[in-house]
Amino acid sequence: MARLDDDNDSVKLCMSVQEMSINGDEPPPEYIVREGIFGAIDSSPEIGQIPIIDINLYSTSSHDSEQAENELEKLRSALSSSGCFQAIGHGISSSFLDKLREAATQFFALPEEEKQKNPLEEKQKHFKVAHRTEGYGHDVKVSEEQVLDWAYRLTLRVFPEDQRCLDLWPENPNNFGEVLREYATKVRSMMGVLFKAMAKSLNLEENSFANQLFGEQALMTARFNFYPQCSRADQVLGVKPHTDGSGITVLLQDKEVEGLQILVEGKWVKVPIVPHAIVVNLGDQMQIMSNGIFKSPMHRVVTNFERMRLSVALFNEPDPEIEISPVEELIDEMRPRVYKNVKNYGRINYECYQRGEIALETMKI
Ligand code: OGA
Ligand code: NI
Repeated sequence: MARLDDDNDSVKLCMSVQEMSINGDEPPPEYIVREGIFGAIDSSPEIGQIPIIDINLYSTSSHDSEQAENELEKLRSALSSSGCFQAIGHGISSSFLDKLREAATQFFALPEEEKQKNPLEEKQKHFKVAHRTEGYGHDVKVSEEQVLDWAYRLTLRVFPEDQRCLDLWPENPNNFGEVLREYATKVRSMMGVLFKAMAKSLNLEENSFANQLFGEQALMTARFNFYPQCSRADQVLGVKPHTDGSGITVLLQDKEVEGLQILVEGKWVKVPIVPHAIVVNLGDQMQIMSNGIFKSPMHRVVTNFERMRLSVALFNEPDPEIEISPVEELIDEMRPRVYKNVKNYGRINYECYQRGEIALETMKI
């Protein structure tokens, strides 16, 4: 993202973000992370061995080549261990990715009043479904124990198209909507390719996941995350440890500032920035469908003392009307069924989160 942190723009931005006191004040106590089951914030974590996978090999004619086979095996191995990989060969140009980052950077740099034209609260009124929260905002305290995330977010439903709440889409910068539509369309076709490859990597019929996750009414939600710099980055998290409730998540990281960490074998490791790569991680619903073979990784975001960070996550979810289930062929005597069938997991996930429960645990048989 553009470096706003060392020029005049940053001053303007700092002044507008009062609640998070990024101009160097102590963060309010509700942001301070207490050492919980997932451990403290480590100042120098190891770099994770996150595989880099050329996903172009899944969509070209080189289907039966040894190289394509190897790439499928890499995928299976990545998804059944860390649940995460860095995709290259996705066909989205770096200049377009920069354009998306730039549009998001410009939006977050607007004065607070301007951004509040798209507030989170408004949308909750529009929707009866409690978990559908869209628009711009930050964490609000709903319980005493809650530790707040040091982040501002803009959340927008992008698919199905007729479910877009265009009144919440930023008009400033004026190319925001156009760039998001184009990016989401590209990522959707990338996800289609990935669902097939994931099935093939487990020797399943190629639509085994796609036909549950990828129908006309499948959902895609964009979340733009903005993490201001933080004077207590040693004690404050951008996002607390969580797994994504999605089928899969495609995450565009900041171009320069790291922050994402995943939990691998009980240890937090950094997800490095790889030029041109887009991070793909699995969500809980894919773990359910793969009968626990693929993993939905626990991850978190740390903050940075000096620099702000931006990321863009696109979450895919099945049509909430569809019941998803572990794929039949992945259930046998050696590997009995782990999860129940479930409909509208997004809502269950949200409700569990409110109660401090782990949604995926409640899905076990
Ligand atoms: C998320 C998330 C990671 C990041 O939005 O669910 O995990 O790097 N984001 O911002
Ligand atoms: Ni996440």
